[in-house]
Amino acid sequence: MSLPLAPAALPSSPSLPSLPEEPGSASAWPASVWPASTGPSPSGDLAVGGVALAELADRFGTPAYVVDEDEVRARARAWRAALPDADVAYAGKAFLSRAMVRWVEEEGLSLDVCSAGELELAALTGFPAERVVLHGNAKSPDDLRAALRLGVGRIVIDSTGEIARLAALVPAGARQRVLVRVVPGVEAGAHAAVRTGVEGQKFGLPVEGGEAEEAVARILGQPRLELVGLHCHLGSQIASVDPYVTAVRRLVALLARIRDRHGVTFPELDLGGGFAIAYRAGDPALDPAAYAARVTGELALRCAHADLPVPRLTVEPGRWIAGPAGVALYRVLAVKRTGSRVFVAVDGGMSDNPRPALYGVRYTVRLVGRASAMPARPMTVVGRHCEAGDVLAEDVALPDDIRPGDVLAVPASGAYQVSMASAYNMVGRPPVVAVSGGRARLLVRRETPADLRGRDVGE
Ligand SMILES: Cc1ncc(COP(=O)(O)O)c(C=O)c1O
Repeated sequence: MSLPLAPAALPSSPSLPSLPEEPGSASAWPASVWPASTGPSPSGDLAVGGVALAELADRFGTPAYVVDEDEVRARARAWRAALPDADVAYAGKAFLSRAMVRWVEEEGLSLDVCSAGELELAALTGFPAERVVLHGNAKSPDDLRAALRLGVGRIVIDSTGEIARLAALVPAGARQRVLVRVVPGVEAGAHAAVRTGVEGQKFGLPVEGGEAEEAVARILGQPRLELVGLHCHLGSQIASVDPYVTAVRRLVALLARIRDRHGVTFPELDLGGGFAIAYRAGDPALDPAAYAARVTGELALRCAHADLPVPRLTVEPGRWIAGPAGVALYRVLAVKRTGSRVFVAVDGGMSDNPRPALYGVRYTVRLVGRASAMPARPMTVVGRHCEAGDVLAEDVALPDDIRPGDVLAVPASGAYQVSMASAYNMVGRPPVVAVSGGRARLLVRRETPADLRGRDVGE
């Protein structure tokens, strides 16, 4: 995969603002905010996957999400290459569509889902159910029945109450493979709302205090459940490998206690996802090769010390695979200069990207489709929704002559945007367009007012 476009590779026109500076890095995965295919189009505009972004805005309308298929595939391959003996399960919650399911399948990944909806989309697309892992702190009876009916490979038990409930649904004579999600007491993650490795949040069973061990004992007592290993997920946007190494130590210690108490060892260890990407130039991103070297080394070492067989590792990258492959496109509807601030209002907002409002995520924004020689100054890009908190990007540098009709591109938009989008204010959800090799194709169409009215069946 080629390195991301350096600012100098842009057309020499004075008018196009240069791409944000990328931090220098010797890693194969520098923390670029743009897909590696980003470059100038023949007309001098910014293109992704060989298609000019402004052309995509004209053809598919705005707001729209653009996904670079080759970037998704390359990122999936990067994890496979870093961990050739591990199971790499793409976390579908980051972004799922039939095409995405197919790309992930073709790249040899497994799939992590957390609802019957995600599972059925995957199954209908032909994804092998035995390569699916089902998660969820509150799986509904429908989720569990769908998982058993379709034959998912593993179900991750998240609470003690779920054990008997699941076992009761497994048909006589059958055995469902399960993992148990434990909380190793490791604090990591960019925001309190996404830190799941510590107690005091809703996921998993704490190692500290013995709840995890108690759950293991109960699962082992269920003949229709086959416990194949432990699972943990520390959180999201974790840029350092250290928390994963700490988790390995605690989980291997737990495996040793389980072996001592029950005489069993497990073939699998699932360390979840949470790998950081860059949203803005200079943000750190996690390097799969660095992760692989330290985590597999620590696992082998700790298992040797504990005299345990080394379990096969599973990792669950979501954002890392989908996020940097996506670019969101908006059209400017209004520019308001009040006091010292400039508000650039666009035709989307918190309905297609709730993340800035939820977690205070900061994005990069860039003008595309026309040239401007004007100096850039800090502006606030806001959405069209009826909330003062509907801010897409604070303090982003945009040219002073920004005006209604301009197209703005927001990179690193491929994860947790499509999947978290709502129809707030009855603004339909945007389409998803795939680009590759100079061609664009619609993956998911825009949600129309008729779609929204069609659900309203009562009077
Ligand atoms: C269990 C589990 N695995 C994997 C992920 C993927 O996380 P990320 O997209 O940050 O890699 C999540 C995210 O919430 C998760 O809950």
